[in-house]
Amino acid sequence: MEQDTRLMPVLPIEAYTSEAWFEKEKEMVFGRVWNFAGFVEDLANPGDYVTVQVGNDNIMVVKGRDNRLRAFHNICRHRGTQLLRAVGKQQTAITCPYHNWVYNLTGELVSVPDEKTQFPNLDKKKFCLHKASVDIFRGMVFVHKDENPEQSLSDYFEGVMPYLSPVHKPLQLVEAKDFIIDEEVACNWKILVENFMDVYHLKQLHSKTLFMFDHDNAEFCYVGPHYMFKEPVVETDFNKRLAYQPLLPIKNAKKEAYVPMLFPNCGLAEGFNSWSVFHVIPLAPDRSRLVVRSKVEPQGLVDQIKLLPRYVNAYFAGQKMKKLAKNPDPMETYDFVAEDNYACEQQQKAIKSAKFSVGISAKHTEAQVRNYQQIVKDYMEGYPEKHQGLNTLEHI
Ligand code: FES
Ligand SMILES: [Fe+2]
Repeated sequence: MEQDTRLMPVLPIEAYTSEAWFEKEKEMVFGRVWNFAGFVEDLANPGDYVTVQVGNDNIMVVKGRDNRLRAFHNICRHRGTQLLRAVGKQQTAITCPYHNWVYNLTGELVSVPDEKTQFPNLDKKKFCLHKASVDIFRGMVFVHKDENPEQSLSDYFEGVMPYLSPVHKPLQLVEAKDFIIDEEVACNWKILVENFMDVYHLKQLHSKTLFMFDHDNAEFCYVGPHYMFKEPVVETDFNKRLAYQPLLPIKNAKKEAYVPMLFPNCGLAEGFNSWSVFHVIPLAPDRSRLVVRSKVEPQGLVDQIKLLPRYVNAYFAGQKMKKLAKNPDPMETYDFVAEDNYACEQQQKAIKSAKFSVGISAKHTEAQVRNYQQIVKDYMEGYPEKHQGLNTLEHI
């Protein structure tokens, strides 16, 4: 009998609940891929740094005096203390908080307190910071925990560019910093990622929020492990609702949205008036952190922000945007992120029940979720190469 290709989940339930699976993912998924770490402008000046958790490794990216980016493991070579926290600006050196060993911005150990008496004949060259890798894609900084990864960043994203928005130049846009989303969501990180890709829910869960997009004409496919998606704007409805047009739509942007998910956890939303990164950070088997950063054209920033997809509905409903998160009923927030997070948390709540199962999944509009789970499964079983190279599927 032909195998039912609509069976879901493809992954076992433990993938969403168990500590052991979560630990293994750190090594088999995050440890093998390039991970989003921030925007290029987070590292504008020498001494600026960002840190990012990559599986079990915390990686720091530091801009040197030569304006080059370098990545290191965020671990002191003395007794292993984590050196830097979160993000920082214009450090002249990297100083360990424990015993004040000091490293320069190129990772060399330059100073050790009481060196002469306590560490006679210390060869400081042997205690440089461990190197990792860093590279840039579309204004985004990515890191790999290995100094010499098997795949370069451009190989990792090979074939992706033609499926991204042709008009966005992220480096020419500015970040709407007052509108960063940084929230904890009580679900496994994959539930958030799968929901990001799920086409079936768009017309249902978001009937009041993402009505301006033509979900029936969405196009999607995979390029390697990366999910590619675009859909047009519903012209008439949207124009009617927007009594005036965005003042300064992103130059030449067509009224369509490109919403890919770069494997494993970095979504993009390239709309006609904004450009966002949707970063899902695993915290525990049932807890994740969602960080969404959006950019718009520099002129008319305030008017642009009102029209970010997350806020446009509240804006036209006369709601105060900043109060959205405090609204007790996520379905009345006019906020599609609140709707998504609510649905994801509700899914996580049910998943440990003995009665939990997926009845059946949609033939076409949930196929991308099944495919994503298969990719994670192959990574966990040690076969990431199954998803390398170009394997474009017009419709999956
Ligand atoms: S652990 Fe860093 S200086 Fe001791
Ligand atoms: Fe959604």
